[in-house]
Amino acid sequence: MTNTEIVEETIAFVKETLKGAEGGHDWFHIQRVFNNAIAIAKDEREADPLIVSLGALLHDIADPKFYDGDESVGPRMAREFLESLAVKEPVINHVVHIIENISFKNDFDQRSFSSLELNIVQDADRLDAIGAIGIARAFNYGGFKNRELYNPDIAPKLNMSKEEYKKSKAPTINHFYEKLLLLKDRMKTTSGKKIAQERHQFMERFLSQFYDEWDGKK
Ligand code: ADP
Ligand code: NI
Repeated sequence: MTNTEIVEETIAFVKETLKGAEGGHDWFHIQRVFNNAIAIAKDEREADPLIVSLGALLHDIADPKFYDGDESVGPRMAREFLESLAVKEPVINHVVHIIENISFKNDFDQRSFSSLELNIVQDADRLDAIGAIGIARAFNYGGFKNRELYNPDIAPKLNMSKEEYKKSKAPTINHFYEKLLLLKDRMKTTSGKKIAQERHQFMERFLSQFYDEWDGKK
């Protein structure tokens, strides 16, 4: 199988597996991350395009949030699928490491693995959590979880433990302070940093307008 065929088969598999997924985690999220990752990789010449593509396509194949917190489902599904295509073992291992290490909490926990390809896919995923799309996804997720939009009496909490963060029922606006506004300083690639800067500024404008409207000032 050629690399192009492997990527095409993977796209078909991911589309099928994510049918009916929540709007912030559906195929279109994967497609945007895939496109972001390819764009970032163009400026990172050393990156292996097959690993970047497969990592981006498979990174959310089984989000632990939707599997009772089980973090082993995604890596296992990805491995089984890639083995079924007879993808080379070192490529499979690298892709599985990307899936295991991409999430936000792993950045706080310190990653057990690092590579340029992981940096690229992680930056691409983070770009989709900020800016206009990031705002849409956050409120979509908040709605899915039946959260308040905003509550001036509930302050955001920084540096929550993994358990606390999972249990938090905080309003969606708090998520901006707990996660989204922190992402621009955690970007690892040059082009990722640049795009994140613009998207960050857009979120700040959104929040400022939101509070003005909330207070009846606009
Ligand atoms: P990703 O899809 O990038 O792996 P996550 O699974 O952490 O990221 O979250 C998916 C989307 O849902 C992101 O856009 C994220 O900002 C949003 N989200 C996650 N947790 C919350 C929350 N507590 N409140 C609002 N949005 C959230
Ligand atoms: Ni994602």
